[in-house]
Amino acid sequence: MSVRLLLRRLSMFEMDFLQLAKMRCTTRGFDATPIPQEDLDYILSVGRVAPTACNRQPQRIIVARQPESIAKVEKAYKTFGSPCILIVCRDRRDELIRPFDNKCSGDLDIGIVCDHIMLAARERNIGSVMVGLFDPGIIRTEFDIPDYIEPTALLMLGYPANGFLSSERHETTRKHLTDTVMYERYKENA
Ligand SMILES: Cc1cc2nc3c(=O)[nH]c(=O)nc-3n(C[C@H](O)[C@H](O)[C@H](O)COP(=O)(O)O)c2cc1C
Repeated sequence: MSVRLLLRRLSMFEMDFLQLAKMRCTTRGFDATPIPQEDLDYILSVGRVAPTACNRQPQRIIVARQPESIAKVEKAYKTFGSPCILIVCRDRRDELIRPFDNKCSGDLDIGIVCDHIMLAARERNIGSVMVGLFDPGIIRTEFDIPDYIEPTALLMLGYPANGFLSSERHETTRKHLTDTVMYERYKENA
């Protein structure tokens, strides 16, 4: 490991979680630099330890890196030049259904896995965009995905072509805590 890389890793240890969470941002333009296998393994390992309902672990992740695979994803959504796309699917056979209203845990599970992955990527200076608005039918066909596996999100990874967004942007891009958090009972601000 180079001294520069070591220093970067050490400086990450000094970071509190809010700092890392603020540093993560959506990247919609990547350069072609491949993600080192060691970093991809790390990022996927962080996704692996994410919590899921009843620990069912419904996530099934297809890693698309070959140009032909990226071109297949491109048919379903823009890929922003990403050299590495995770097709995050959920296995319907491994989901928890809430008996009171039949709400399925799958999307929550996948969201948590994706967030773990995006934060781990940012820790390694790798950018990401989570995409939900892709055409799942195209992804299903192009990647031979069976009926009981649902393509839920795309995570496009890579090094930002134009840097990361400012950590301070949340001052204007996020609602105030008092608009989203209430204590003891539901209460909307006037
Ligand atoms: C579930 C989910 C789905 C999203 N789908 C898309 C998408 O289809 N296309 C896109 O460009 N960005 C998508 N995004 C990125 C959001 O637009 C972005 O996270 C949001 O605007 C906040 O910006 P930030 O990530 O830079 O903090 C999605 C994010 C989430 C969490």
